[in-house]
Amino acid sequence: MSAAQKKPLLKVESLSIGFSQYVKGTQKRLIRPIADMHVDIDEGEVVAVVGASGSGKSLLAHAVLGILPGNAICGGSMVYKGEELTQKRKEQLRGREISFIPQSVNYLDPLMRVGRQVQIGLDKKTAQEEQEKLFAQYDLKKSDGRLFPFELSGGMLRRVMFATSVREGVKLVIADEPTPGIHPQALSEILRQLKQFAKEGAGVMLITHDIVSALDIADRVAVIKDGTTVEISEAAAFEGKGERLKTEYTQRLWRALPQNDFDLEFTGRAGEIQCL
Ligand SMILES: Nc1ncnc2c1ncn2[C@@H]1O[C@H](COP(=O)(O)OP(=O)(O)O)[C@@H](O)[C@H]1O
Ligand SMILES: [Mg+2]
Repeated sequence: MSAAQKKPLLKVESLSIGFSQYVKGTQKRLIRPIADMHVDIDEGEVVAVVGASGSGKSLLAHAVLGILPGNAICGGSMVYKGEELTQKRKEQLRGREISFIPQSVNYLDPLMRVGRQVQIGLDKKTAQEEQEKLFAQYDLKKSDGRLFPFELSGGMLRRVMFATSVREGVKLVIADEPTPGIHPQALSEILRQLKQFAKEGAGVMLITHDIVSALDIADRVAVIKDGTTVEISEAAAFEGKGERLKTEYTQRLWRALPQNDFDLEFTGRAGEIQCL
């Protein structure tokens, strides 16, 4: 997409998130896992948010969705489609224009048939028909709808989550590590689907610690470290020795990947960002 066509969808600036916690019964203290984080997404764009475990990726997602726990104290600004994204607006948009693919398949109710779970929130009269259409779209059989989560494979559960979360009218998809522990074919299918949303004009925030897979579909990559945005760069800058990357930190992160095979003290398992 050329610069002239760019349409900002979401802009998060100077985000900070703290939690007040009780210590020793009555004393309160504040911890601040997120400070000065920023990220922005245009319509039709996939922005990967990458960072080690504990760097604050899920908190960012939950802040945009308005689902932080009650003791969270939030600062900074969020603008969605040119207007401030207030808590009230987040609640109105969540599950409609803004959809969330949570990090864990445990978000599904273990005691409810999956077809029924997908019907939640749909117009009662047409819910079943609509759910069956979604199942077909996500390559699930009609009979799968009668199954409980434990009867489905990991890849199928992921697709059920897509059907529950991502429906018509969605403008912003926030996918929180949608790909851990699934086999490569299901992985590429999920990435393909996310890219498809972007092609249809939605913005996609793809949260992951798997930078290599993210680069398959990302237009830009935001690198997060210790609750702060270190750098946002074009995905194309992640090539060669990373000369076009802006910070030394990101360059080292890039060079630490197995296919770039140096700087080994920087990484652990294949392709995963370890504590950076
Ligand atoms: N409800 C909470 N109360 C206190 N600290 C929290 C809470 N949720 C997350 N944190 C802390 O915030 C940091 C970032 O968490 P998270 O966003 O889940 O990381 P990531 O998704 O990148 O693995 C972690 O250090 C975590 O312990
Ligand atoms: Mg997380």
